[in-house]
Amino acid sequence: MSTAVTLKKTDANIALHDIKVVSLPRPVLKANQALLRIDAAALNHRELWILKNMYPGIKFDSVLGADAVGRITELNGESGHFKVGDRVVVMPSQGWTSSLRGPEVESEYFIRGGTESPGIFTQLFAADQAEIFKAPAYLTDIEAAALPLAGLTAYRTVFTKGQVVKGQNVLITGIGGGVALFALQYAVAVGANVYVTSSDDSKIERAIQLGAKGGANYRKENWEEQLLKASNGQQIDVVIDGASGPGADTILSKVLVLGGIFVTYGQTAGDFKFNIMHILRNIEVRGSTMGSRAEFEKMLEFVEKHQIRPIVSQVFEGLEKVSEAVECMKNGVQFGKMVVTVQH
Ligand SMILES: NC(=O)c1ccc[n+]([C@@H]2O[C@H](COP(=O)([O-])OP(=O)(O)OC[C@H]3O[C@@H](n4cnc5c(N)ncnc54)[C@H](OP(=O)(O)O)[C@@H]3O)[C@@H](O)[C@H]2O)c1
Repeated sequence: MSTAVTLKKTDANIALHDIKVVSLPRPVLKANQALLRIDAAALNHRELWILKNMYPGIKFDSVLGADAVGRITELNGESGHFKVGDRVVVMPSQGWTSSLRGPEVESEYFIRGGTESPGIFTQLFAADQAEIFKAPAYLTDIEAAALPLAGLTAYRTVFTKGQVVKGQNVLITGIGGGVALFALQYAVAVGANVYVTSSDDSKIERAIQLGAKGGANYRKENWEEQLLKASNGQQIDVVIDGASGPGADTILSKVLVLGGIFVTYGQTAGDFKFNIMHILRNIEVRGSTMGSRAEFEKMLEFVEKHQIRPIVSQVFEGLEKVSEAVECMKNGVQFGKMVVTVQH
């Protein structure tokens, strides 16, 4: 049997759906699959959106979770790439091979967990061998579990969409977030001048220790003036944003340089209007998501080359603690990823 964390429907008057820990039969491997013994798993903001019923394609009673690291305990068919005992991470989605534009067939694309694609908050997981990759050897299990979804989203957002290069001024909003912290590490690694925003001054200080040049607290009045002071009055070439909301207008009108690029991968703070003033400033708004399998491989190479270690905010022991981790995420206290260890 395999303990797993599933999504349970609650009645419509309750604000959140529920999490239920269940015992499922040991998975039976299909051709070219590997059985993984999961050692650690990580949360993403999407689990919270799913529980709030604000995520597309939710499937009740399905296993939650997109991120984990595990060891291969059984192989059905030999791809030649893996052996029993290898430590691997799993591609957090299915159905996107290499197109730079997006999934090759939109209707066949699924993100793992809480959807048609079974999630990975489980002791045992059957994965297609084409969708597993050796975990970077220098990372601990906890760090490796934190990498896949947020690491991939940040890679596509910073490089494929943001085209960030050395010497550019880059702003990363909401630096406490899992994706934002990877974006910070990646942009610093290529030599960009990185600035950040946060609701918490101490998170800005921690970002400076990780290589940011400065930042501003988005909860404060005229935060953009503080930000431009930190950059010696220079406007920003590329913004990496996961919040959108009212702050986006300020960024598009005042913070970005003429013709600057605003890449957004999320709307934690709501949507925003792209208005005539932004058009007249020649601003480019680009949507971004997680990436393809090809981008996942490139991300793993990049992380290894620069010896980047995922920033882990909190570790919870046991799959039973997923609800507690979600509560912490709701309160926004995190600086980086929430990881859950898996006992056997
Ligand atoms: N498109 C995709 O494929 C994709 C992939 C991954 C994530 N996402 C989305 O991206 C967002 C972030 O995901 P995550 O997993 O990194 O989330 P997370 O770890 O829960 O972080 C959320 C962060 O958002 C920041 N934030 C909240 N309100 C803000 C505001 N008004 N202005 C600026 N920042 C604000 C906070 O930063 P501070 O604590 O510093 O204040 C918070 O730490 C979510 O909406 C998620 O659904 C989308």
